[in-house]
Amino acid sequence: MRLTILGGGGFRVPLVHRALLDDARRQAAGRCDELVLHDTDPGRLRVIESVLAAQAAAVPGGPAVWTTTDLDEALRGADFVFSAIRVGGTAGRVRDERIPLSEGVLGQETTGAGGVLYGLRTIPVALHIARRVAAVAPQAWVINFTNPAGMVTEAMSAVLGDHVIGICDSPVGLVRRATRALGVDPDQVGYDYVGLNHLGWLRSLTNGERDLLPGLLADDERLNSFEEGKLFGARWLRALGALPNEYLHYYYFRRETLRSVREAGQTRGEFLDGQQGAFFAEAARTASPREAYELWQRTRLRREETYMAESRAASGGWERDSCDLEGGGYDRVALALMRAIAGDEGARLILNVRNGTTVPALEPDAVVETVCQVDSKGAHPLPCAPLREDQLGLMLQLKAVERATIEAARSNNADAALRALALHPLVDSPAVAERILERAEG
Ligand code: G6P
Ligand code: MN
Repeated sequence: MRLTILGGGGFRVPLVHRALLDDARRQAAGRCDELVLHDTDPGRLRVIESVLAAQAAAVPGGPAVWTTTDLDEALRGADFVFSAIRVGGTAGRVRDERIPLSEGVLGQETTGAGGVLYGLRTIPVALHIARRVAAVAPQAWVINFTNPAGMVTEAMSAVLGDHVIGICDSPVGLVRRATRALGVDPDQVGYDYVGLNHLGWLRSLTNGERDLLPGLLADDERLNSFEEGKLFGARWLRALGALPNEYLHYYYFRRETLRSVREAGQTRGEFLDGQQGAFFAEAARTASPREAYELWQRTRLRREETYMAESRAASGGWERDSCDLEGGGYDRVALALMRAIAGDEGARLILNVRNGTTVPALEPDAVVETVCQVDSKGAHPLPCAPLREDQLGLMLQLKAVERATIEAARSNNADAALRALALHPLVDSPAVAERILERAEG
């Protein structure tokens, strides 16, 4: 089985490879025996290849790895394609943050005006990839991690239909943390999570017939023991009656998070630009895969430790739990998805797929993030409880933003771009939206 990773020179690629090695160790059926890394940057490919070589050294039977900068060559013959690209690199991420911040509104990788700018830049490239997949690897399944993952998956689905599935690690992380706080086995519970990517709610956690969520929401001590509990606070979570995705912190606490992001000397993109730049430069200088690997490990840990630092500062300042630093979030979802499609085990996962009739107020082809049953035919959204008005309201508003962004990117439509930015709940004026667009284009 051949897996191709687009964005193969990406920093988190060794996490996917580590999960593939686990499969090799367990001699899992239908495991991947060929891993193709594609990237536009050959230098980064060399570095990541050497990190993978060190990681594979102790594990016999891992996948053969080869690299290429030719997209069609990477796609041809692939069974699965992971798309994890960053159009414009970290320099682009910094602009997506700084331009909105200079207008006094949130600039973040996927949220607020920053997410819209990132979508406008990324969607044309994602569409090109989708068309090349359709032309040279029509049998392949595309698993999209490229952010903003919801809108990118939706744009690609216009070409690939249900053969593109979007993934994110934050919903499964929320389920894992909530079940750990309750002291129950995550594999033993059922859950109802629904929304859009980076904008969803965990609304029940069931053990047999019993919903454990009300008990968790009533328990200050347990709520204070995990990330989302600390971010949102027991008082607000109880009033809300659900556990929100961590990214909803930018909406519910917009004043506090914006202040914290503005007050931090550096944006996340600036921090990562320095950190990642230093890693790739230093790793390229060493001839030893072992050293490159150790450097990667140290850099990775620091990256995880500093994740969402501004949101944590805005909610009282606290450190991440050591079990949240392990990584192994999105790569595990990706591999579970791949295994469920390739084999016959089946799996229940939270994924970004076309809505169908899941949320009746949304169009059938709108991509939502929801619980799906996965089998060899793909990911099928499961019915979910009706959405509350506040949840549906936010989802509809953000879906309008996502769709306007897709329209703007597909047809270079300036009105659609203005609508996308100005309709975003975290952008407070069309005049601000217009200036942000001008600066982004300039
Ligand atoms: C989470 C989100 C991803 C996002 C990443 C950013 O994993 O689910 O969508 O890309 O965080 O992490 P970073 O270290 O790049 O800030
Ligand atoms: Mn995500």
